[in-house]
Amino acid sequence: MTTGLTAGATPRSAVPVVPVVPAMPAVPVVEAVDLAQTYVLKRGLLRPPARLQAVGGVSFAIAAGRTLAVVGESGCGKSTLARMVTLIEAPTRGELRLQGADAVHANAAQRRELRRQVQLVFQNPYGSLNPRKKIGSILQAPLVINTTLNAAEREEQARAMLARVGLRPEHHDRYPHMFSGGQRQRIAIARALMLRPALVVADEPVSALDVSVQAQVLNLLADLQQELGLAYLFISHDLGVVRHIAHDVMVMYLGLVMESAPREALFAQPLHPYTRALLAATPSVDSGARRERIVLSGELPSPLNPPAGCVFSTRCPHVVERCRAERPALRNLAGRQVSCHLAEQFLQTPAAATAAPA
Ligand SMILES: Nc1ncnc2c1ncn2[C@@H]1O[C@H](COP(=O)(O)OP(=O)(O)OP(=O)(O)O)[C@@H](O)[C@H]1O
Ligand code: SF4
Ligand SMILES: [Mg+2]
Repeated sequence: MTTGLTAGATPRSAVPVVPVVPAMPAVPVVEAVDLAQTYVLKRGLLRPPARLQAVGGVSFAIAAGRTLAVVGESGCGKSTLARMVTLIEAPTRGELRLQGADAVHANAAQRRELRRQVQLVFQNPYGSLNPRKKIGSILQAPLVINTTLNAAEREEQARAMLARVGLRPEHHDRYPHMFSGGQRQRIAIARALMLRPALVVADEPVSALDVSVQAQVLNLLADLQQELGLAYLFISHDLGVVRHIAHDVMVMYLGLVMESAPREALFAQPLHPYTRALLAATPSVDSGARRERIVLSGELPSPLNPPAGCVFSTRCPHVVERCRAERPALRNLAGRQVSCHLAEQFLQTPAAATAAPA
């Protein structure tokens, strides 16, 4: 993984502006209720299969024109969530609605139609484009499968989409290896938009790019969102990137939501110790005082054997007896949702003073 935007690394003029959006419409583009994924792992003939809870019941809604960012360390379930929302994997539990339609219990024909409404952009723009196909062919492939457009109409749409993502129409006849990493990610975004989806799930879309290019791609995503009214589920391990693109942020740890909040509230006053530690580890978004004193120490526990009680208790600097015995519910507090027995104390206390000894 690459590091994200760091302090001073992003030119001020290149910092994306989070688009202003109208009030939440009645039906969100996507709505998940208690969405969960448990994998059953075979362990040989003599041992019973193990159950790995990759996502343990996640709820959210995203309206048109808005971005929900999902953040957390490696293995917290971000990509698993992306696969469920893009209908690549069925959840083991929970509800998923796309534009109000039930995506979990849909029949095959309904799922095909729903799949058009949600598209995925991957982290690696090198791996996700077929090196033997010209860009035009890559962009037109979804139209061949899903529409009745003729060849001339498809080419016109592909060239128009290239212009829309900041490339030139003549790039239509070139191969992926002729482009830089940033250009390839523009092509991947163009391909995702060919069927005019309502929701784009972007799984670490800028993590593989140089810092200077990251800001350009984030700007493009913000422009496209405003122009087309797209909803984004934006997955990242990097709060520095998330700050530039998200309207709302959901912080995950071992498959569970630790804190879910509007961006401003989360960055101004994080209420979960894990959110506070992540912020402290992100120099570009943290105050010096907080960064000096909060340390996220200790190993990430195995998801096959998560801690009893609060899943963050083995690394939390504020852990008390109750945390090890009782799993905190996700509850409403101060305009966000938080899963911590002690969250109230962080409402009153400045971040630096609550920090753990280093
Ligand atoms: N197909 C699978 N079978 C079994 N376990 C899986 C499978 N896919 C993911 N996992 C496990 O589920 C957990 C969540 O994985 P996931 O890939 O969703 O995490 P992530 O947050 O996307 O991590 P990263 O930041 O490294 O991409 C991990 O423990 C992973 O090993
Ligand atoms: S419930 Fe306890 S262990 Fe968990 S985050 Fe809160 S203080 Fe830390
Ligand atoms: Mg992932």
